[in-house]
Amino acid sequence: MSFAGLWDSLLPVGRDGASGGYRRFSWTPEDAACRAWFTLAAAERGLRVLTDNNGNLWAWWDPPGAPGGAGPPAGGEAVVTGSHLDSVPDGGAFDGPLGVVSAFAAVDLLRERGRVPARPLGVAAFSEEEGGRFGVACLGSRLMTGAIDPGRARALADAAGVTLAEAMAAAGYDPGLIGPDDELLAAIGAYVELHVEQGRALADTDAAIAIGEQIWPHGRWRLDFTGRPDHAGTATLADRRDPMLPFAAAVLAARQAAATHGARATVGRVIAEPGAINAVSARVTGWLDARGPDEQVLQAVVDEVLAAAREAAAGHGVELAVETESATPAVRFDPTLRETLASSLAARGIRAPVLPTGAGHDAGVLAARVPSGMLFVRNPTGVSHSPAEHANPADCAAGVQALAAVLDDLACQ
Ligand code: GLV
Ligand code: MN
Ligand code: MN
Repeated sequence: MSFAGLWDSLLPVGRDGASGGYRRFSWTPEDAACRAWFTLAAAERGLRVLTDNNGNLWAWWDPPGAPGGAGPPAGGEAVVTGSHLDSVPDGGAFDGPLGVVSAFAAVDLLRERGRVPARPLGVAAFSEEEGGRFGVACLGSRLMTGAIDPGRARALADAAGVTLAEAMAAAGYDPGLIGPDDELLAAIGAYVELHVEQGRALADTDAAIAIGEQIWPHGRWRLDFTGRPDHAGTATLADRRDPMLPFAAAVLAARQAAATHGARATVGRVIAEPGAINAVSARVTGWLDARGPDEQVLQAVVDEVLAAAREAAAGHGVELAVETESATPAVRFDPTLRETLASSLAARGIRAPVLPTGAGHDAGVLAARVPSGMLFVRNPTGVSHSPAEHANPADCAAGVQALAAVLDDLACQ
């Protein structure tokens, strides 16, 4: 199987020697290396490679006799699989790349078996799925489907103040072209994303593969607490307007609200400015990532966290500004496609339970416009967004077999 060669050739790209984690952020040299890897993998297979206006990569295996050309395939029946190549800061090797590598390996497996697509078969790698540089998750698929305003996207800035427009232009792309891509969407009849499982639901079972059922609604909220900078040694406690304190209250409230409602709430990023050890901060910015099994629960969690943050801010004489940076509604994957995935796997004797997930995916964004589905590959520890993220080689091979089965039934019949 070609999986190992593809996997090994991508593995060094963007890996930090000290942490062992990946730093593959969009429109950086590491991102360019991932794009070059994708282009080479596609070229080695004779696939037609396109980059769309939003920076998403496509490799097309056209049916015999199809015209090819520089655009998406005609007919509206294309079957697309893939995932993303970017990472969270110090992310694992599997989140995203497993889906892209498995997609190319599944193409190889179908060819080894002499299978030929009757419908165009595409491999996709979506840009900035993690929001690791510009903060908005699934940026490439959101732009493509019209789920984010292109003007807002162009103005998104990274931690150094570089905007998406500037970063794309520096990488040789035209940011003026980003936005909804109805022609490309109209080409796609189904999207199936294979992804490493990001929990332990399969870990203690005999199933290496699961089928995605739904994605929890989730979002990101930016909280800016503005106080008054002052001297750590001389400012009396009573005189302080310290933004760190209501920020701390918000973090604790997030944990409490998530526990109360059976949800998830995380503050994984905080910036204290100006950052002096011996000074009260002028400003503290924190990001809340919240997710829940349904919209009401998610709203309740966010409301409770923001109420606690506002109350604490008022109590400390601190200003609080809140901005919703992204909000993704609950997604139930297309039931007909889900049935097809289940019967394709069952027909090959592959047992695959159906799982919900609290993780976001491009498949969830595309689901608004295209029948979409997901396959998950067992993760023995469940750990993800971490260098410790893992899937065993045998399970990765099972993933390729499962994906090839699904693609065979969807595209080659
Ligand atoms: C993406 O992996 C997310 O769920 O944040
Ligand atoms: Mn991820
Ligand atoms: Mn992912």
